[in-house]
Amino acid sequence: MTFVDAPAKARRTAGVIPLHGAEGFAGMRKAGALTAQALDILTDYVEPGVPTATIDKIAYEFARDNGAVPATLFYKGYRHSLCTSINHVVCHGIPDERALRDGDIVNIDLTLVVDGWHGDSSRMYPVGEISRKAERLIEITYASLEAGLAAAIPGNTTGDIGHAIQTLAEAERMSVVRDFVGHGLGQLFHDEPNILHFGKPGTGVPLKPGMIFTIEPMINLGRPDVKILSDGWTAVTRDRTLSAQCEHSIGITETGHEIFTLSPGGLFNPLAVRAA
Ligand code: MF3
Ligand code: CO
Ligand code: CO
Repeated sequence: MTFVDAPAKARRTAGVIPLHGAEGFAGMRKAGALTAQALDILTDYVEPGVPTATIDKIAYEFARDNGAVPATLFYKGYRHSLCTSINHVVCHGIPDERALRDGDIVNIDLTLVVDGWHGDSSRMYPVGEISRKAERLIEITYASLEAGLAAAIPGNTTGDIGHAIQTLAEAERMSVVRDFVGHGLGQLFHDEPNILHFGKPGTGVPLKPGMIFTIEPMINLGRPDVKILSDGWTAVTRDRTLSAQCEHSIGITETGHEIFTLSPGGLFNPLAVRAA
């Protein structure tokens, strides 16, 4: 493994981890803030009866009006501005004309590109009244991200992050999805290193100031196994149990980390908002 100063427009190179400076952090701050603002605005539209295509359109227009581009639009053949993953959909759910229903839980995952920098974040949105087990799943998914974040400090390794997430989720008899991982990002959407949401302490890549990556655990109520539907994107739990996810983009600093995608309205965790 090697570390390099993050060059502009670099390609992803296996085992080469970019270290970003002040310019990268400034770029990520702006992109992350706009993504978080968009996710805040979408809160009002997540209601029974609303098709996910409507949510996609609102995000597209918000990006356009704010000088940003949704990173997923035309990414590897994907044709939408965000992903909407409902109930047993683990990730990469495709927005469509079907309406949200009372009791659904939906993850909205949005990446806005601002001045070339990628702000990638996702949250859970309850639709109307949700079940107690759905609530518990969301609670634990957020707590697992928090546990991962607490381990994201220089001197630790990527394995420490994964271990913290896995330990918390499995203590609640929930499971961690293995097939999708967090990732480095910056001027690239997906860069080194991979951030596994499971693992052993002290393994993986040492965390160094200047590393920029996402943490985005997917937690299932049942088994961790996933399958991809015939559309080539939608990932679902094999046992059809509920799945939840939340994601922040962060940068490792000298003393800890900076979260680039904090909600300006304090809306990141919907259950904390409802309890307030
Ligand atoms: N935003 C997702 C991530 O967290 C990637 C979505 S790629 C798509 O990395 F093409 F499915 F939209
Ligand atoms: Co994302
Ligand atoms: Co991501």
